Amino acid sequence: MRTRRTLGRSFLSLTGWTLEGEAPREKRVVMIAAPHTSNWDFPFAMAAAAALELPMAWMGKHTLFQRPWGALLRALGGIPIDRTKHHNIVQAMVAYAEGRLGEAAVPLPAVTRIIAIGSDRMMHAVQQARHGVLAPHLTPSHVAIGSINSPMQCMMKEVCAQCLQRHVDPATGRESFVFTCFNQDQELDRVDFANLRARLRQNSVQEKLADLWLAHVLAQAPAPLAHV
Ligand code: FES
Repeated sequence: MRTRRTLGRSFLSLTGWTLEGEAPREKRVVMIAAPHTSNWDFPFAMAAAAALELPMAWMGKHTLFQRPWGALLRALGGIPIDRTKHHNIVQAMVAYAEGRLGEAAVPLPAVTRIIAIGSDRMMHAVQQARHGVLAPHLTPSHVAIGSINSPMQCMMKEVCAQCLQRHVDPATGRESFVFTCFNQDQELDRVDFANLRARLRQNSVQEKLADLWLAHVLAQAPAPLAHV
């Protein structure tokens, strides 16, 4: 624990940051790392959590855990996921809950917030598993959020509507729509993943057609333009 704290404090110090305040004494806290303008908020959030001796567990692609960073990332609570293998994230979470991956840094029954970030299939699997195989390991009052990867175009919040995401209220069945570029983090139980999947596939077709059209136009262009 002391090594982790030293690593966190050293990182913040070397990058010019000063830690202010103490770790909250409450048993449960919400930690917000903001603003999310680049991937740098991740190492800074990790370093702050380590420096404050807040227990934290997170998962990352296994290639991140190779030398020279592997030991450091594990010390910061990282759990490598090999994405080249067809491991199932839900099975991994069950294995984690049952202690088959070693001592759990954060026991699942103590988890009050879940944030699923990844492919639509992965988030859908987590959405379902929370009411199935993961239910015995989770407190029923936990909150689950998905970082929804709807297709986006303008990113200007309610202009092009490319990012519209269908929601269905799990209690009433009422349908609603949100602009994902306005609010990417959505309540997992409300997200219609079949709709999201269909829209992603539709967008993929448009991207492929645009690529083909561009290749066709460039092939007809005068030589200098073809090399732009
Ligand atoms: S991406 Fe255009 S409104 Fe959201």
